[in-house]
Amino acid sequence: MIAIYPGSFDPITNGHLDIIKRASKVVDNLVVAVLCNGSKRPLFSTEERVEMIKAACHPFENVDVQAFSGLLVDFAKQTSAKVIIRGLRATADFENEFKMAITNKALSDNIETLFLPTSLQYSYISSSMVKEVASLGGDVSFMVPNVVEKKILQKIASI
Ligand code: COA
Repeated sequence: MIAIYPGSFDPITNGHLDIIKRASKVVDNLVVAVLCNGSKRPLFSTEERVEMIKAACHPFENVDVQAFSGLLVDFAKQTSAKVIIRGLRATADFENEFKMAITNKALSDNIETLFLPTSLQYSYISSSMVKEVASLGGDVSFMVPNVVEKKILQKIASI
């Protein structure tokens, strides 16, 4: 079974990594799909986001990382994925995730969305929070992989 785990990943957090680790154990191949033309204005370029995810996912042999643009269901077809993985953090994510899952199902009946509950210790983390804390000089080492911590400090210093 091939599955895709899509997102902006600006940047990848330990919460995302937890979902990747757990999803990679239940599917044969997992493609982390990095959105390059989303409505959010990212801090990191697509290439930087892909590189950071590749470095963080190095231990997982069946995980591949690719950038995509356009409709997620079209990218799923290109990669022969039949499953979209999404993480759910408590109740706040549910409404939006539910709408996305229904929309994707309406666009392509062959693709199913599977939700994994985010582990409790990561349930409060978001990429925006990481960027805010780092930009104000706070410690983000417990929220992101090492490679991201280094990159975010460099990025902030260069702005
Ligand atoms: N742990 C911690 N944080 C998590 C998390 C987890 N397990 N899961 C999500 N998040 C956070 C992210 O950090 C991010 O935080 P931010 O808003 O502060 O940046 C937020 O939740 C949501 O980000 P993400 O999971 O990366 O998803 P997204 O909403 O940015 O991306 C896509 C959604 C890419 C799946 C969607 O926009 C898409 O499919 N686009 C393609 C166009 C399309 O097909 N549209 C029609 C179908 S909806």
